[in-house]
Amino acid sequence: MNPSVGVLFVCLGNICRSPTAHGVFAALVAQAGLAGHIRVESAGTGDWHLGQPPDRRTQLAARTRGYDLGQLRARQVRAADFEQFQYILAMDRANLANLERLRPPGHPGILDLFLNYGRDLPVDEVPDPYHGTTKSFEQVLDLVENAARGLLAHIRKHHLEAHLQVQREP
Ligand code: 4NP
Repeated sequence: MNPSVGVLFVCLGNICRSPTAHGVFAALVAQAGLAGHIRVESAGTGDWHLGQPPDRRTQLAARTRGYDLGQLRARQVRAADFEQFQYILAMDRANLANLERLRPPGHPGILDLFLNYGRDLPVDEVPDPYHGTTKSFEQVLDLVENAARGLLAHIRKHHLEAHLQVQREP
């Protein structure tokens, strides 16, 4: 059996915060050898930037920490996401509220703030860096790297450990 967990990161434009979370979390998952077990995507609640790559400043900040976001393209949240992703994680409360409105009745998955998976963070929202400075994009990465580590630990514990243990046994 190949247990698969889906994680969708959501912000407003899908060109700054959620692609950063997408790239950072996908890199952690790959490093852990779990790419076959965890599906990662990102989307925006808004539709202004559909089909565009991440913001140039987002890509630059990510690249300096070793993450290549160049292949990502912005898309909007769609109804099928609620069937395909168990974890739909918003960067801020405004986007979480929009997701709650879009959520079909009976959706069994988790809708939450992404930073709730972080450790010892002073905030629970990732501030929108779009009108900010270089420092704003660095701050996005700091918050995202912290919460991505916590999220991976959470998913390992709650979804993967039992299965992986069984697979290792003869
Ligand atoms: P994001 O940032 O939600 O982190 O991708 C934004 C990108 C674009 C806009 C707002 C936020 N915008 O208004 O175009």
